[in-house]
Order: sequence, then structure tokens, then C-alpha cells
Amino acid sequence: MTYFRPNIDAMTGYVPGEQPQTDGFIKLNTNENPYPASPAVGRAVEEALRRGLQKYPNAMAQPFRQRAAEVLGVEPDWILCGNGSDDILTIATRALVGQGQRLRLPYPSYVLYKTLAELQDARSEEVHFRPDWSLGEDFARASDDLRLVFLPNPNSPSGTVIPPDAVLEFARRLPCPLLVDEAYADFAETNCMDLVGRCEKILVSRSLSKSYALAGLRFGFVVAQPHIIDGLVKVKDSYNCDALSIAAATAAIGDQDWLAENRSKILATRKRLTKGMRKLGFETVDSQANFTWNVHPAQPVQPLYERLKEDRVLVRYMNYPNWGDGLRISVGTDEQIDTCLERLAAIV
Ligand SMILES: Cc1ncc(COP(=O)(O)O)c(C=O)c1O
Repeated sequence: MTYFRPNIDAMTGYVPGEQPQTDGFIKLNTNENPYPASPAVGRAVEEALRRGLQKYPNAMAQPFRQRAAEVLGVEPDWILCGNGSDDILTIATRALVGQGQRLRLPYPSYVLYKTLAELQDARSEEVHFRPDWSLGEDFARASDDLRLVFLPNPNSPSGTVIPPDAVLEFARRLPCPLLVDEAYADFAETNCMDLVGRCEKILVSRSLSKSYALAGLRFGFVVAQPHIIDGLVKVKDSYNCDALSIAAATAAIGDQDWLAENRSKILATRKRLTKGMRKLGFETVDSQANFTWNVHPAQPVQPLYERLKEDRVLVRYMNYPNWGDGLRISVGTDEQIDTCLERLAAIV
């Protein structure tokens, strides 16, 4: 006897990265920031606690929208906040893609997109990246019932970027919205935020989990033209962001000096990681995110992941059917990366 809709019975469900609850791991598997968030965040949370939590929060996270609007150079009504950017991706899929309709994604990319399509009983259409991690014309092809296209930019697992002019060209040719998932854009050289005003089909989502070091908080947002935001608002939970996360996220985005300093540390360590992995014989893609994608031309990498884990260094082993496998390694501190490279050197 099953009580579930057939599509729910048929799907396996998204499996998040491992989150060991014991100390002692060097954790380089889910692209968290190794440094503590801006000190302004702690102060904002304490202040919010002093005010008390008896009342519901602002349903639209208005304080954050105002602060973020100043930082990003848009109006507050162009912003919708979510409980992590995963919440934004869920809201967009629920709002735009119905049963039997299509959602397009590049492959390999963020595995959650396919799960979101399955939840809607929708069809997902994977367009393979070319070997150089660019995307061909197929990505913008009009097709029956195509309702939403996701583009992680920078992509995961590769850390590569599709340049904004190519993104705009894809969006202009597509018959439906293109959600550019910029969870990692603060570590990149370019981003698509400016395109939102030029094309109503472009939505840009951002996360505070990675570049603001707040993965434990759960806060993300999307920027889109106001009539698109109005449609998405109908779908979200009434209070999808809580009072503490709104206060913390508002403080975090207000501290752009912290962001710039953190970014430069991460970029320097990314260079160190890339160089070290190549020295060990890996093919490591030039990354614009806070992780690198590492394939070994001569040796299976799953045993390396397992050996590293025994040594209390946790990286992400990814195996994409019809594509191949590799190790995705988050940029930690210099010390963490040096330990990871030393342990790897002993086993490759
Ligand atoms: C491409 C991509 N988008 C979105 C997310 C979700 O981030 P958040 O913590 O904001 O939900 C992740 C997290 O790993 C990601 O890799």
C-alpha cells in the first residue's frame, strides 16, 4: 500500500552532502566557507534576540531587501528572499513548471534541479556541457512545454562560467525564464546581475551560504523584474525566512568590506589548491568558485576519496552517469588545503 503520488514513489530524493556531526574532520565536501562570518552578524542576531521572537517576522524580509537593493543597485521590489537559495529554486520550479512540462538543465551540474522536476512530475532535459565546459546552441532550443531553464554559473562541479553575453543570448532565444543560479558568483570574475534589467526572462539567484560563510543560517535570494517577483511570491511559504536569519543576512550583506577580504583569501587558496592538485597529476579545471573539480587521467579516484576520509579529510566524490567521476574539493584555509594535498600525495 502506498499513499504517495506515483512520481514521489518513483523518485529517490535528493541526497545532500555528508555532514559529519563529530569534530575532527577537515571538511572540504560541501563548499562551505572556512572562515567565520562578519562580526556584524553575531551582533545582529543578539540584537534580534533581545527584541524577542514572539512576533512573526516580516513576510518579505524587507530589511534585507532594502540593504541588498542598495548593495546591488536595484529596487527592493526586484528581490525575493528564501530559506537558502534552494528555497528560491523550489519556489521558481513550483511556480513555473507543471506536471508533464519540461525543465532544462546543463549536465553535469547541480543534482537538485532534477529532483525539483521530479517533485512536479515534470520532465527534465539535460543538455551536456562540451568538453571545455561551454554550452552549445541546444541549450537555447525552443521545445514543447519548456517552462524553465536552470544555469548554475559558476557551475558545480566544474567551477566554470558561461560569460554574461552568452547567457543573454541564450535567454533571448529561449521561450521561457532562465534562472541563473549564482550561488558561487561572489568568487567569479563576472556575473549576470546587470542582465536582469535588460531581459525579463533572466532571474539571478544568490546564496549567503558560501561567500558570506552562513551555510548554517539558510538564506538566499533571487533578483528578477517586479512582475516576475510578484508571481513567485504567491508560491512561497508565508514566513519562509525567520527573524534571526533576516537580521543576520541583513548585517552580512551590509559588510561588503568583509566580503572583499574573505574573497581575496579564498581566491589565493584556490590558486594553491589548483597548483597542488595539478602537481599530483590531476586534471584540474580553472575554477571561478570556492572549489575545484579534479579528474585523474590514470587512476580511479573513488578509493582516494575513501582513503582521505579514513584520514579525516572529507572531499566530495561525484560520479555522473554517462559523463565520468572526479573529486570536488572545497577551498578551505591554506592549512586545511596543505593537509589535504599532503595526505593525497601519500596515496596517489
Ligand atoms: C549550484 C548550487 N546552487 C544552490 C545551492 C544551494 O545553496 P543554499 O545553501 O543557498 O541553499 C548550492 C549548494 O551547494 C549549489 O551548489
